Amino acid sequence: MTAASQKTSSSTKSKTKTKGSFEPRIVAFCCNWCSYAGADLAGTSRMQMPPNVRIIRINCTGRIDPQFILDSLYQGADGVLISGCHPGDCHYTSGNLKLRGRFALLKNLVEEAGVNPERIHLQWASAAEGDVFTKGVTGMVERIKKIGPNPARKGD
Ligand code: FES
Repeated sequence: MTAASQKTSSSTKSKTKTKGSFEPRIVAFCCNWCSYAGADLAGTSRMQMPPNVRIIRINCTGRIDPQFILDSLYQGADGVLISGCHPGDCHYTSGNLKLRGRFALLKNLVEEAGVNPERIHLQWASAAEGDVFTKGVTGMVERIKKIGPNPARKGD
């Protein structure tokens, strides 16, 4: 287990379902080549970050299947963050551009499924941008706290 995953998976065991005091569960799909390394950098650099995020490493954001997002939301996530290489830096040339093109459709799909589309967010963070990753997670946690718990989740 890397420092980033240790830090980010440290715990959100005590949950309440009321708006305000609840601690959101965020699933973050991070591409191996940039954002996962950025998250690891944030951990090894001891940057302050809310412990609400569970990171799932994927090879490229272009690999994101809409079902990943829907399953995450139905299985307990209050929000889903997708984080990958900056446009032009994708290890597979254009995976992130393909995702960016599909992201609006992804939001529509989530809304059609009865979930607030603001629960999903896309950000770019390079391997050297632990601070960007940290800010993305912090902002996401704050936004989801305002939205409240995910009513579509099946329960704890
Ligand atoms: S390899 Fe990082 S988004 Fe494609």
